[in-house]
Amino acid sequence: MSVLIKGGRVLTAADDYVADIYVEDERVTLIGESLDLAADTVIDAAGKYVLPGCVDPHTHLDMPFGGTVTIDDVESGQTSAAFGGTTCHVDFCIQPHGSSFADALAGWQAKATGKQVIDMGYHMAVTDLHEGGSLEELATLPDEGVTSYKLFMAYKGALMVDDETLFRTMEVAADTGALVMVHAENGDAIDVLVKRALAEGHTEPRWHALTRPPETEGEATNRAIQLARVAGAPLYVVHVSCKEAVEPIALAREKGWDVWGETCTQYFFIDSTHLDRPDFEGAKYVYTPPPRDRSNHDVLWNAVRTDTLSAISTDHCAFLWDGQKTLGRDDFSKIPNGGPGLENRLQMIHHFGVRGGRISLNRMVELLATNPAKLFGLYPRKGTVAVGSDADLVVFDPERKVTIEAATHHSRSDYNLFEGTEVQGTPDVVLLRGNVLVADGELVAKPGIGQFVRRAKFGQELRSH
Ligand code: URP
Ligand code: ZN
Ligand code: ZN
Repeated sequence: MSVLIKGGRVLTAADDYVADIYVEDERVTLIGESLDLAADTVIDAAGKYVLPGCVDPHTHLDMPFGGTVTIDDVESGQTSAAFGGTTCHVDFCIQPHGSSFADALAGWQAKATGKQVIDMGYHMAVTDLHEGGSLEELATLPDEGVTSYKLFMAYKGALMVDDETLFRTMEVAADTGALVMVHAENGDAIDVLVKRALAEGHTEPRWHALTRPPETEGEATNRAIQLARVAGAPLYVVHVSCKEAVEPIALAREKGWDVWGETCTQYFFIDSTHLDRPDFEGAKYVYTPPPRDRSNHDVLWNAVRTDTLSAISTDHCAFLWDGQKTLGRDDFSKIPNGGPGLENRLQMIHHFGVRGGRISLNRMVELLATNPAKLFGLYPRKGTVAVGSDADLVVFDPERKVTIEAATHHSRSDYNLFEGTEVQGTPDVVLLRGNVLVADGELVAKPGIGQFVRRAKFGQELRSH
């Protein structure tokens, strides 16, 4: 099967040029001027950008959480990703308490089988090193292509781990070539604040933010950085939301330590006042860390521009407002934490980041595709446009205007965090390994086309086979 993409403006993290791209057997085999080759499919990309398929390093599909299960399973979540130009993601496999890591992975893979629309990998979220998985078993995962360990420093009584578990996992990562990821908030302090707020009769969504002050994120970020330094492990801080967490990451990176951070689309646009929206609409914006004061928006744009933060993910963790978010009508701590976003990352960052003059097109590609691929062992198979790389490609129309809305998005969520936002620039055609996934506003490929990717160990490259 061959594809010829004609005359597009090819964008990578480093390059920007007009060329034709030829694809055979799922890979890019030739890039050049005016290629005169026969192909099964020819795509006219004149006036369009050709980007590498975006890589989302932070999603939660079909995940039991907050007394319910996220509303997007692998099929609906990945369909929504495909429409947004994301062709590979790394989801969190959460170790159930008392379970081995092998059982956890088998359970997560069973939920994905036959439903995959894009390629994917897993991070292992370690919750229990005592009665469940052992350090020895944890050490075997990178050889299986699961090359990142995630630890939650918050969600006390559910996913949170103590510092011993955090530190021991970091020591294993230092030995095995895994990257450690942390959800950095001080879960003990937050637990005290939440209980006190409820005891004082505060039940509304705004208390979600008031009980998770930015200092609790800053403290945990710094703690994780210092412990990773002692353990000798590389560290990636997820969903950085505020200045208090950006600062310790900036300091560590200035010192040349192996520390990286991501933020998520929503943290540039949504602020704590959204939680005050009437008629319990504020619950739509209950995700963690919470929407912050607006002053943090510029802090985050500056951090992604200067490489203090190296990636933008979605933290897609979708729920219905009606029936799931409403579980917390009388108690903000019972509102399931999370929001949808897989579909709109590229549109939002292109429109407000690139068109808004905040970042370059190359930096956009680096933040949404190249850096996530490099950090999570997918590069150069994913995350760039190059001869030999998987033909995961997005033909992006920079002029077409769309209005983001739940009525037309592909997540099963009944709301969109960016409802009503008009953006200029959206994917036209999306290819996964040379197969057309999305064209003319339709999902062309069938679920099952996506594959599990065995990722390379931290710092190593992954080549197409
Ligand atoms: O609110 C969020 N972010 N839900 C997903 C779980 C997590 O903490 O990433
Ligand atoms: Zn988190
Ligand atoms: Zn998350």
